[in-house]
Amino acid sequence: MDKIRVVGGKALTGSIPISGAKNAALPLMIASLLTDETLTLENLPRLRDVQLLFQILSNHGVDHSIQGKRNGQDEMSGQTVDLSARAIVDTTAPYELVSRMRASFWVIGPLLARMGEARVSLPGGCAIGTRPVDFFIQGLKALGAEIDIERGYAVARAPAGGLIGNRVVFPKVSVGATHTIMMAAALARGETVIENAAREPEVADVARCLVAMGARIEGAGTSTIHIEGVPRLGGARHRVLPDRIETGTYAMAVAMAGGDVVLEGASADLLEAPLETLRQAGAEIDVLNHGIRVRRNGHGIHAVSITTEPYPGFPTDLQAQLMALMTRAKGTSTITETIFENRFMHVQELARLGADIHLDGQTATINGVSTLKGAPVMATDLRASVSLVIAGLAAEGETEVHRVYHLDRGFERLEDKLTRCGAEIERISA
Ligand code: EPZ
Repeated sequence: MDKIRVVGGKALTGSIPISGAKNAALPLMIASLLTDETLTLENLPRLRDVQLLFQILSNHGVDHSIQGKRNGQDEMSGQTVDLSARAIVDTTAPYELVSRMRASFWVIGPLLARMGEARVSLPGGCAIGTRPVDFFIQGLKALGAEIDIERGYAVARAPAGGLIGNRVVFPKVSVGATHTIMMAAALARGETVIENAAREPEVADVARCLVAMGARIEGAGTSTIHIEGVPRLGGARHRVLPDRIETGTYAMAVAMAGGDVVLEGASADLLEAPLETLRQAGAEIDVLNHGIRVRRNGHGIHAVSITTEPYPGFPTDLQAQLMALMTRAKGTSTITETIFENRFMHVQELARLGADIHLDGQTATINGVSTLKGAPVMATDLRASVSLVIAGLAAEGETEVHRVYHLDRGFERLEDKLTRCGAEIERISA
């Protein structure tokens, strides 16, 4: 199995191109199930999760073709892909595939809306928490679906004339349930109002794409979304927005290692809370026309405390990375995780590098230390893995991060991007 070797102590200088957002790319690809015309997605990141979703979608009958490179595109440019679900050949999403990536459960919405039926495996356990799907089931039932759980599958049927618009109130903010109900409601009869909807920029991005496909949606990006169902959707061309989590991750890497890096193509509007946290931690952040410049020169890292929250709060997907940064801060910080109950697997691995972290329920208290020392560590989930790389950038000597397949799910060419900025980092293939 591949591992990543980092030798700490090098400042980062240069530029890092920011890829298209994984968490928009996945639901956008799933939206291709809603139409028999071609959906063209630009700036799709090259990630393992994207590859896996191609495979899952092709099982339902979605063909995809990756367009060739154009003059002037460098190797870091995202891909342009045509997705075409001319005929849905299978409405079952099997356990073998869904258990490998939770977001594939979201196909239940478009399949049900377009085909009137779907049989989708329940995703099962997950390293960061229990992650149930009750809000999806409640929401689809509100649109008139009948859903039974049979032998580990959610078996869903729409009423004879198709799904019917309704009011859907989520008990708690859920990104996936918002995407799914929004996609299903786009083809339902009549109006759907989603209340307590997720406000994440990726939801707004998917809504923009659906509107380009002919959907009638207002309010995406706020907590109330209105959808007036239409009988059919058509093809469209849509560019995936920049990845705010990748942006925040590299910004924290620069804050950790020191240096001066421009995050090319990043959009500061998408991550105000994390950038403000980084400023408080002592990084200098400048918003440019074409990206964000992050610097930390000379002075140390200040301790800052955060609580993860749904957007626009501090994202759970940057919690592990901030914790890595705080291990070297002057003073004590606290990090409280409110989205997932088990998203602290990186704590023990950071401790292997010399971090001083105490966990009490959902709150980690981090006492900054003056040095971290490189060691072999194990990646446990996507964001936890990258937090270990960030720690490795500032650790003395060599850190080896094992099980890097987690990283490849969500970070495109991580070691190339960091090497371009002077980091000593390499992938060692087994
Ligand atoms: C999305 O996951 C992201 N994934 C996650 O990114 C991200 O951490 C998460 O949103 C929160 O921002 C993608 O976009 C592909 P949720 P999602 O439904 O939609 C509970 C990453 O590292 N809940 O918003 O699965 C749930 O257990 C990842 O890129 C229910 O109780 O998350 C959690 O506590 C990992 N019942 C909370 O809601 C439900 O039916 C929020 O989860 C659904 C969710």
